[in-house]
Amino acid sequence: MHLEAIEQQLIQVARQAREHAYAPYSGYTVGAAVLTDDGRIVAGCNVENASYGLSVCAERVAVFNAVASGARHITAAALCTADGGTPCGACRQVLLEFAANPETCTVWVVKPDAIVERYTLTELLPHPFRR
Ligand code: THU
Repeated sequence: MHLEAIEQQLIQVARQAREHAYAPYSGYTVGAAVLTDDGRIVAGCNVENASYGLSVCAERVAVFNAVASGARHITAAALCTADGGTPCGACRQVLLEFAANPETCTVWVVKPDAIVERYTLTELLPHPFRR
């Protein structure tokens, strides 16, 4: 599989972000990265809480971090877990909100040492809620 340099960087940032995950309750560490339409890569990791329901997924941390730094459009995302897990449904909807184009927004699902799958956001969430 041929990857552009920016896609390789996106995946590497997601892998590095996983090392910052705070997941003492589940033990399941996740790293994420999003690429903004102005060419920036923004990282996120899951951040858990003793009150379990307050935990936030890595993808949402990355998206909210990007939005808080001024971005409004995401062109690609990467997610790194130990077992190649795909984004949860809530995170798919949050990614969709800011996807420049869901049909072309690539979501890389990777492990630390391998690329597992490449999806588009439309493949992951074909019927999003929209307003
Ligand atoms: N998690 C993510 O960070 N992203 C997902 O898409 C699925 C789940 C986190 C939430 C929780 O901290 C841990 O993984 C176990 O569910």
